[in-house]
Amino acid sequence: MTLLEGVLKMNIIRTVKKMKQTVRKLIHNRQEIGFVPTMGYLHEGHLALIEKARQENDIVIVSIFVNPLQFAPNEDYEQYPRDEERDKKRAEAAGVDILFIPDAKDIYPSQMKIDIKVKDRIDVLCGRSRPGHFDGVVTILFKLFNIVLPDKTYFGMKDAQQLAVVEAFITDLNFPIELIGVQTVREKNGLAKSSRNVYLSEHEREEAAWIYKGLQNGQQLIIDGERNPIKIIKKVEDVIRNKTNGSIDYVELLSFPSLKPVKSLNSQVILACAVYFNDARLIDNIIMDQDGNIKDSIHLNVFNYK
Ligand code: PAJ
Repeated sequence: MTLLEGVLKMNIIRTVKKMKQTVRKLIHNRQEIGFVPTMGYLHEGHLALIEKARQENDIVIVSIFVNPLQFAPNEDYEQYPRDEERDKKRAEAAGVDILFIPDAKDIYPSQMKIDIKVKDRIDVLCGRSRPGHFDGVVTILFKLFNIVLPDKTYFGMKDAQQLAVVEAFITDLNFPIELIGVQTVREKNGLAKSSRNVYLSEHEREEAAWIYKGLQNGQQLIIDGERNPIKIIKKVEDVIRNKTNGSIDYVELLSFPSLKPVKSLNSQVILACAVYFNDARLIDNIIMDQDGNIKDSIHLNVFNYK
């Protein structure tokens, strides 16, 4: 097959069977696999994960699958933006070796007979308003990890609760996979890139930039020595309320990745918020140490089994 012969061309694989066969060959040839799971509509945020995977692995596999299991009935599964042609071009230009685009019927051929439930790290942030969402996320990841058998997998810090849940998932179930969190990619004005930004009006896009500015105001308080979470949270809320017409779902300050409320800052924390606009709910966060310093990427479970 072309890939193993070293021809620089992206392969598109559409079936679980073919993906498994290909992965077996890659592992047989001692290729290290970096895996970036996505729901497509690729933007610079996804590309940053791909770039990091490209630097650290022989083979980069990206999956595109809008996973019905992680959407509640009232959510945007049907409307979720999709553009396969554009995704293919972007993935190829980013140096992806294999783009895995399975069909829902191939991934879920029948009703699941096993139920996977996340028990911790979900009673805060988005988990509270999206019951069952993270069960759907880890279910699809369980399948994808078993199909792709990656050495390393890359997740965005933008979806920090997802990153924390995946960390627990990989650790609890002893997946032999290294998990790398990659820093959030933003628009020039600071708005975190998201496939859902297409739902924002021009005016909302400008206002939404204040979400990150609000978080940065909170971060600045921490840098200046503030240790009281209530004051830090209040600062962020004030900025978002004063500068946008969005309605705040939450602003929280928690330990990371354990996602527990902190009484006083003395470890790595996450300052996170979710804000509703007309047709979109936007999330953003800053993960930092107790002094307010941030990192470009984090290894959540560095482990050496080879
Ligand atoms: P999706 O929303 O497509 O995101 C895929 C990956 O891209 C996630 O790890 C997400 O955190 C990361 N990402 C999104 N926006 C980013 C940004 N602005 N900067 C950096 N990284 C960003 O998350 C999912 O898909 C799904 O839940 C999935 C894990 C694929 C399971 O279905």
